[in-house]
Amino acid sequence: MMAIDDSTVRDPDVLRAAMVRALRDQDGIRSEPVAAAFATVPRHLFAPDAPVEVVYDLHRTVPVKQDENGLELSVMSAAHLQAVMLEQAGVEPGMRALEIGSGGVNAAYLAELVGKQGEVITVDIDRDVIDRARRCLDDAGYPQVRTVLADGEGGVPDSAPYDLIIVTAAAWDIPPSWIDGLTPTGRLVVPLTVCGTTRSIAFDRDGEGLVSRSYSLARFVPMQGEGAAKERKVMLRGGVAVQSDDARVTLDAQALNSALDTPRLDRWSGEAYDQPDELELYLTLNLSSPARLHAANDVVERGLVEASALFGVPALVSEDSFAYRTRRENAATGGFESGVVAHGPDAQALADEYVTLLRRWARDHRRRGAATLRYLPNPAPAPLPRNPVLRRHGTVTATWH
Ligand SMILES: C[S@@+](CC[C@H](N)C(=O)[O-])C[C@H]1O[C@@H](n2cnc3c(N)ncnc32)[C@H](O)[C@@H]1O
Repeated sequence: MMAIDDSTVRDPDVLRAAMVRALRDQDGIRSEPVAAAFATVPRHLFAPDAPVEVVYDLHRTVPVKQDENGLELSVMSAAHLQAVMLEQAGVEPGMRALEIGSGGVNAAYLAELVGKQGEVITVDIDRDVIDRARRCLDDAGYPQVRTVLADGEGGVPDSAPYDLIIVTAAAWDIPPSWIDGLTPTGRLVVPLTVCGTTRSIAFDRDGEGLVSRSYSLARFVPMQGEGAAKERKVMLRGGVAVQSDDARVTLDAQALNSALDTPRLDRWSGEAYDQPDELELYLTLNLSSPARLHAANDVVERGLVEASALFGVPALVSEDSFAYRTRRENAATGGFESGVVAHGPDAQALADEYVTLLRRWARDHRRRGAATLRYLPNPAPAPLPRNPVLRRHGTVTATWH
C-alpha cells in the first residue's frame, strides 16, 4: 500500500512522513521511539536503485538477491513488518542488539532505538549482502553498526550476551547459540515457521527455554546454512501439493493420490469461521498428524480441492487419507461456518478429529493471542507434551487461553 495518495510525489522526506503516519494508522507503529526511528532513518539510501515509492510502500519488499531460479534470497523487508517486529522487540536505549539477516535499514532503526550508549551488530551469511549493507550503513550515517559475515546459526558469540536478538529470515528452529546468547532478561524476536506458515514470535527467557510474549503472522525469505528448513513435499495429481515439516508424518504420494480419487466427505462444524490466522495456528499445533495442503487457482477452479487450499491450509493426514478445512456462508454463525473435507479410507475418523478441533477453537479460544508458545531446548521433556513440534535443537509447545 502506498503511504500517500498522490503517486507523483517523489520527495523521500514527504514519503517518509506519510509512511510513518500510515504505519501508525495500520497498527505497525505503536510507540513513539519506533515512530521516531522510522521518521529519522533515510530508508531510500538502503535501496538506492529501487523506485522511491516502492521503498516507502508499507507492504512491499525490495529485491536484493535471487538464486538461479529466481527465488528471493535477500530482500529489504517491508516497512510494516519491520515496525511490527521492532515493537515486539521492545528496544530500549543502551541495549546491545544482534540482527540475524542483514540489509542495513533494520539495523539503522535498531541503532536509532538503542542510541549512543547501545550497540548493534548485524550478521549475514551472504558476502554480497553484508558488503552492500556495510556500504549503505556508511552512506546513511550509521558507521557504528558492526557488520559480520557468518552463518547466524552460531550467533555472534564475541559480542554476546545480547539484550535482543532479532532474526529476519524464516527460521525452522532455535539453535542453542540464540538462547545462550541472550542476557537473563533478553528477548528473541524470530520468524518461526511451523508447518509452512511463519509467525514473528517475541520470546523471553524462561528457565533454560523461552516463553512467548506476542506473535504475528509474517513472511520472510528462507534461512540458509545450517538452520535451513527440513520440509518434505509430495505432489498429487492435478497440482495438489502436500507438505510437512514433521518427521513423524507419513507422506505417501501414491496413497494420498488414491484418496483424492475417493468421494469426498463433507462435515460442518456449526461454528463461526473467522480470524483465520489464529484458527490456523490452533489447528497446526493440535492436529495429531499435521501437514499443509496447497493448490493453485486452476486446480481449485477444476473442483479438485476447495478454495481454502489457495494460500495453503492445515491438513490432517494418515497413511492413505487426508482432511482439510473449508468454509461456507452461513448467517446463523455470523458470516461463515467452518467445516472439513476428507478423502480416503480414514475420511470419517480424520473428519471427526478435525471438526472437534474446529468446534473447540470456536468455543474456547476464538480470540487474538490465545496461544502461549514455549521453546524447550533439548533434551526433550519426558513425558513429551501433547502434539509437540519436534525440532533438531528442541521442542515447541503451546498452551491455549
Ligand atoms: C529479509 S533479508 C533481511 C532484511 C534486513 N534485515 C532488512 O534490513 O531489511 C534476510 C537475510 O537473511 C540472510 N540469511 C539467510 N540465512 C542466514 C543465516 N543462516 N545467517 C545469516 N543470515 C542469513 C539472507 O542472506 C538475507 O540477506
